[in-house]
Formats: sequence, C-alpha cells, structure tokens
Amino acid sequence: MLSKFTTTALIALSGAWVAESRPAESSTTPARNSRRWLPGSDKIRGVNLGSHFIIEKWMAGDEWNTMGCGDTNDEWSCVQALGQDAADIKNLGLNTVRIPVGFWINEDLVNDGEYYPKGGLEYLDYIVGNCTEAGLYVIMDLHGGPGVQTPNQQFTGHSVSTPGFYTADNYERAYKFLEWMTERVHTNSAYYNVGMIEVINEPVQSGSYPSEAADMIANYYPTAWSRIRAREDQLSVTDSNRVHIQMMATAWGSGDPSSSLTDQTFAAYDDHRYLKWDTSVTATQEGYISAACSDNRGGDDIIIGEWSISVADDVQYNAEFDIKDTDANNAWYKDFWAAQAQAFERSGGWIFWSWKCNYEISGFNEWRWCCQSAAAAGIIPQDASSAASISPCS
Ligand SMILES: *[C@@H]1O[C@H](CO)[C@@H](O)[C@H](O)[C@H]1NC(C)=O
Repeated sequence: MLSKFTTTALIALSGAWVAESRPAESSTTPARNSRRWLPGSDKIRGVNLGSHFIIEKWMAGDEWNTMGCGDTNDEWSCVQALGQDAADIKNLGLNTVRIPVGFWINEDLVNDGEYYPKGGLEYLDYIVGNCTEAGLYVIMDLHGGPGVQTPNQQFTGHSVSTPGFYTADNYERAYKFLEWMTERVHTNSAYYNVGMIEVINEPVQSGSYPSEAADMIANYYPTAWSRIRAREDQLSVTDSNRVHIQMMATAWGSGDPSSSLTDQTFAAYDDHRYLKWDTSVTATQEGYISAACSDNRGGDDIIIGEWSISVADDVQYNAEFDIKDTDANNAWYKDFWAAQAQAFERSGGWIFWSWKCNYEISGFNEWRWCCQSAAAAGIIPQDASSAASISPCS
C-alpha cells in the first residue's frame, strides 16, 4: 500500500483452506487452533499488523514517536500492548493477522554498508506467539525485500529511486530469508499458526518496469516456491502441513504470478484493493457503495490482503465524507465497510489495513485506516463475520 502517500504523517499508515489436522497439541495450549489451517468453510477475516507500530520503528526510528506506539515509553511496552491486542482481534470475530516484515529481521542477510535497524526478531517472536496463543491464523509477509522491490516507498524500509531487488544476488538473499522463515514456522512453537508466507509484497508493475516484473514472474516466483518446498522436504513436513505460498495476484499488475509455476498446491494470491485510489470510481457516497457492491476480485485462492474505508484524498475532508466534526457520516462508513467486506468474501476473504494507529487529525482519531479505533467508534461491527448480514448491497 502507501503508493500515493507522501506525507510523514501518513507513513504511519505506511486456495481454499485445507482442513488437514496436525497432531493434537498438548492440552496445555487449548487456545491454539486445533488445525494448522482454517477450515474450508471459513473466510479469511483479518487485520494487518501494519508497519506503523513496530516494523516502521525498525525502518525509521526517528518517526517512532509519531506512530502507533507514540503513547508508550518504549518499544517493549508497545509490543506488549500489541500482544494483548491479539485477544481483542479475536474478540472482534477476526481470525487472521498479516504481519509485514523486512528481510533484515534476519540480520545475517544484511550486507555491509546497508543500514537497517536491528533487534526486531525478538519482537516478532513475541507477537507471533501471542497471535498463535489467541488462535489467530498468521500470514507472514515479506514486505521489505533485499535491494528494495519498489522505488520511493517507505514500506520497503529504504526509499530509493531504483528498485534493486531484481538481481540474482538479491533474489538469493530473499530465498534465504524464505528458507529461514519456513524453518522457523515448522520448528518454533510460537509460529504454530503461521500458515502462509507471502514471498514479496507489492513488487514493481509491468507498466513501469516491464523487464523486472517479467523476470520476477519467470525466475523469482518459481525459485522461491521450490526453495520453500525443498526446505520443507528437508524438515520432513507432511503435505498437509506445508505452508501456503502467496504472491501478488494478477490484478496487482506485475503479470500472472502462476505462469511459471509448475505446481499450485497451496498457492494463494494477494490482491490490494483501495477504492480510494481507483480513479474509475465516482467519489461520492453512492459511487463508492455501488463500486463496492459490484466488486468481485476472483476465487477462493485470492485474499484481499490490504484495503481500508478511506476515500479519495480530494474529498476525504468534505462534508460528505468528514469524520472529524460530526458523526453524521458514521452510518455511511458502516455501510462502506460492510459492502467491501461482503464483496471480498466472494473471494478468499480480506485483511484490513491496518489494526492500529494513533493517526490523528487535529486531535481527532482518523479511523478510516485503523480497525481498532473504527471498531471503538462503532463503524466496524463487534462481529466482523457479520458483513453480509448488515451490508447495504442488494
Ligand atoms: C505474549 O507472549 C509473551 C512471550 O511469550 C508472553 O510472556 C505473554 O504472556 C503473552 N501475552 C499474552 C497476552 O498472551
């Protein structure tokens, strides 16, 4: 996400499930999912643990105090608070968290001369463990790739004008990251509920970088796939316990991610759907609802991994959409949330961007990007699985 954001304030926002069972865990861990995978009848309903609270700290430490953890004295307090939030996420009827991480969380993969914050792994282990304990399904998202996969974006951890990811050396570092993460998922009990690994978030698109995008589809995706599977083979992971491997969906614009894959067992695809930035949508209340109700992003193997209830920049503070001085528009925002969530449940499900932010406009909480505060404001229902029953779509 974040492709249209320019201000530091907004840096803050910076296949069907297979119901195979793992061997039962000991009775001392009753809160865990009894299955590694969500049951086939469930949709993904989740939130991103977006880069604005911990990951962004590792990326941009001096911005820490303007981010979601600005109210806490130190990052550990923030991480602990987030750990407690896992239970709240579950209580909202959500079943999934997507965790964006940078490759540098494995410090062995950072080259001399590259500056990335250190020490993040301890936090990640903690948060993942808390999510697992709460029974949430976890998608681990390689959000910042080696060499930088998209130019001029804070989310990559290093905003540069040339995307350097698309080389053999940087691919190799990414494969090593994926092998390392795969091993962690299968051997570290905190990672018990990690069922999906996304191999790279928001790479370059064919329109601007045709050769890089094509190279990624032809080389990076199939090799990432085979390296993850080979590591699972080494670990004697049984077929039903393998991770899902996720790539950006065709709709992202880098090409068809499956075109060079020889196998798509447990493949999943990530679609980021921000109606805010879809210039074909009429930016009126009616226009947004109409677009949301008719949205159909594809089949069960597609998960809408990022979306929000924000509206176009040039109208978002107009009376029609204002959330600051009045709650007159709350009913509309509830509808907008429900219409989108319902549409995305035509696919594999959805993951809101993001769980938490203390992003404020003149002291007023901006909940259009923030599930926790949107739920507190009554915009997102207390049961996030109720979208279809409250949606305004006919
Ligand atoms: C979160 O995980 C940490 C580390 O395992 C643990 O000490 C803590 O009790 C957990 N918190 C919750 C709320 O589960």
